Parts: sequence; structure tokens; C-alpha cells
Amino acid sequence: MKLLITGGAGFIGAHVLHHFCKAYPSYEIYCLDSLSYAAQYENIAALESLDHFNFIRADLNDAELIDQLFTGIGFTHIIHLAAESHVDNSIEDPLLFAKTNVMGTLNLLEAARKHWKGGADHLFYHISTDEVFGALGETGSFSETTAYDPRSPYSASKASSDHFVRAYHHTYSLPVVISNCSNNYGPFQHDEKLIPTVIRSIVKGTPIPIYGDGSNVRDWLYVKDHAAAIDLIFHKAKSGQTFCIGGDAERSNLSIVKDLILLTDKVLENPVGHSEKLISFVTDRKGHDFRYAIDHSHLTNSMGWRPSTDLEAGLTETVTYYVARYTGEH
Ligand SMILES: NC(=O)c1ccc[n+]([C@@H]2O[C@H](COP(=O)([O-])OP(=O)(O)OC[C@H]3O[C@@H](n4cnc5c(N)ncnc54)[C@H](O)[C@@H]3O)[C@@H](O)[C@H]2O)c1
Repeated sequence: MKLLITGGAGFIGAHVLHHFCKAYPSYEIYCLDSLSYAAQYENIAALESLDHFNFIRADLNDAELIDQLFTGIGFTHIIHLAAESHVDNSIEDPLLFAKTNVMGTLNLLEAARKHWKGGADHLFYHISTDEVFGALGETGSFSETTAYDPRSPYSASKASSDHFVRAYHHTYSLPVVISNCSNNYGPFQHDEKLIPTVIRSIVKGTPIPIYGDGSNVRDWLYVKDHAAAIDLIFHKAKSGQTFCIGGDAERSNLSIVKDLILLTDKVLENPVGHSEKLISFVTDRKGHDFRYAIDHSHLTNSMGWRPSTDLEAGLTETVTYYVARYTGEH
């Protein structure tokens, strides 16, 4: 197997790479990443010493180069994670998100269609988000049958790429699988995202920004549990299937911030609640979706997967990692 993992220098991609490189030494694994501002190559640098790991710096928007790489290397399977991933940036620059998330995915689909010529022994596994389903009220959850209703330029670009992946399956019989997951957390995430921002603010003693009144609800999925789900789906799903992946850990943003304050103050040996005074409510994000929740019973019933890390354990590991990062210990 020649497995191409795109976006492997990013947050989730790095965990997927570590997981696959360790679990499958017989696979030839190729990480393709443009090393955009969001990449943290240092998180995967140690893999360079492995004989079955290869890094390719390339931009998905360069269709000719992608095609040449397929010709030269002959990838047989793809796990596609590379994307512009930050909602706030998509509000500032929606065209960039259309370019990478839609056109970049199309360049990869086109190369796979051209080079694979038929379905046997190939798979295009597309990693997507629960945000394509829009927003929920106080109750209910997203599942594989929920209608798409994206609200931000980010989620619209991911929804569009999902539609193209399915269109290539139906039109060209390209073997594809899609999974839509909830908010990931854990080590290696970019500084711009909520959990690293909260921990960094506590370490530095600066205001902890919370959008609106903090009542927006997210489901939190530990990134290593996500990598384990991707492994199962990659090996067991039938072409054309979709799976929703969730963490069974719904919390309001204010509640997750308070959990992080407790844990971070503990690691820093601050008095209990010391950093609560840093909470600072800021103008809400434009079009901020109220609530996301995932029903992952399709994945649980068909493959036995369920999240194995409870939120407190996952947050404790996460806080330990970022406190060390922001105090300069690694
Ligand atoms: N982080 C989450 O909570 C979450 C939740 C649901 C779905 N997802 C999806 O999972 C995937 C990975 O998310 P993440 O949080 O790890 O993202 P990330 O922003 O941390 O990493 C994205 C990676 O893609 C690379 N990249 C960006 N544009 C590229 C291009 N044009 N060509 C090649 N490489 C490029 C970047 O350099 C970076 O290494 C994305 O598709 C995202 O939509 C993420």
C-alpha cells in the first residue's frame, strides 16, 4: 500500500501520521503538506528516521505537481486532511477557503480518478466536519442522514468538498469514504484555536477571550480517539459510506474554559479559581453556530468504536502539554 496522508503537519494529521506509522510498518506512508502557517513540522520531524515514512512539501492547489506525484509515486490510498481549518480566518478570507478546501480537494480527486482507473485496491478517505450540518438548538444531534446546512465560509467550503467527493463516487465509481467529526482537542493544535488560547492566556496572565456569553455548545473529541476511529473506518468501511464521529462530551464554551482554568491553575500551583478573573467576554463571532452534537451510533454499531478518553483525562493531558509549551519547556 502507498498511503498518502495530506495535511499531516497539521494538528489532526500529525496524530494520524504517528498512529499509522506505528501501527502499519508495512505501509509506504507519504505525508503531503504545503507547510502553511498552520503547520507544525516539528510534531512529525521524528518520523523522518523511519524507512516507511516520506515527507513531500507540496500545495494541493498545484494540480500539475499533484498529477506528477501520482505518476511518480503511484499512491494507492489517500487520507485527505489538508485544509484551511479556522472559521475566523474564513470570515476574513472566504476565497482562500474555496481555493484550498474545494479546488485543492478537486485537484486530488482528479488525480485519483485519472490514475486509479477503476476501484479495486484504492480508497479516497475524506476527513470532514460536523459543521457542514449547520447548528442545533437545545436538543437533538447530527447523524449521517442530517441534511447539509453550512453557515460559515469554512463549513460551506467543507460541505462543497464533501459533495464533490460523493459526486466522484457516483459519477466515476471512485472508491470514497467520508467522516464528519466534532471539535478535536489535544496536543499539537495551533495556538489560534480555543483550548490553546485559553491555556496560554492563563500561563501569561492575559485576558481569556470568550465569544458572546459563552453559551455556545460544542462536542469535544480527543484527537487520539479520532485517529483510532480513522484507522477503523479506513480499514473497514465500504466504499460510499459516511460516518459521524463524536466525543460524547458536550460542553458550553464557558464550561470548558472553567474546566481549563481549574486544571491549569492546578498544574501552575495557583490557588483554586485564581485565573477566573481573566475571563473576558468579547463580541460574538459573526454567524456563530449555537450548538453541535454528534450521534455516532452508526460507527459504534458497525465497528465497535466509541471514544475511550473521558473529557477530564483528555483535558488533563492537554493542559500538561500546553503549560510545558507556553512556559518554554518544549
Ligand atoms: N480541528 C478540528 O476540531 C476539526 C474538526 C472537524 C474536522 N476537521 C478537519 O480535519 C482536517 C484537519 O484539521 P486540523 O485541525 O488538523 O487542521 P490544521 O489547520 O491544524 O492543519 C491543516 C494542515 O493542512 C495543510 N494545508 C493547508 N493548506 C494546504 C494546501 N493548499 N496544500 C497542502 N497542505 C495544506 C497545513 O499546512 C496544515 O499542516 C481538516 O480537513 C478539517 O476541516 C478538523
